[in-house]
Amino acid sequence: MSARKPAILFVCLGNICRSPLAEAAFRAEAARAGLDAEADSAGTGHWHAGEPPDRRAQAVARRNGVDISGLRARQVERADFDRFSHVVALDRDNLAALERIRPEGSAELSLLLDHVPGRAGEPVADPYYGGDEGFDRTWADVTAGARALVSKLGR
Ligand code: 4NP
Repeated sequence: MSARKPAILFVCLGNICRSPLAEAAFRAEAARAGLDAEADSAGTGHWHAGEPPDRRAQAVARRNGVDISGLRARQVERADFDRFSHVVALDRDNLAALERIRPEGSAELSLLLDHVPGRAGEPVADPYYGGDEGFDRTWADVTAGARALVSKLGR
């Protein structure tokens, strides 16, 4: 029997900055590595549901060759833990929120940067209240996490 195809859900607070970028970086890294995997993103909060990614997130994605303008924010739900094989939080507050709603025995839950050697426990900082340069840092962080995750899943 073949193993289930990996399906990864990236989760931040608003689903308009970090997790759409993590989803995009993961898709790009998976394509580069020839890994067949599903990817999506969601927020633990509901305030931005239905909205496209923040324009600064769209801009940093575009600068790195990826178009995320078609994504729309949504709130994570309990059923996601059965639909996805891996649920990946961008920081510890969101990880804690996900631990509270995760049904026992469902998707593997982790922090994105836990997958990067030497960066276990580190958050991807929330760039929402900062300037544009924060989004370049976010892109670098989510790319490092996505690359490490793709390499693990491909083994
Ligand atoms: P994200 O960033 O969690 O990376 O999407 C945020 C977006 C919106 C808010 C906070 C963080 N907010 O408070 O509205």
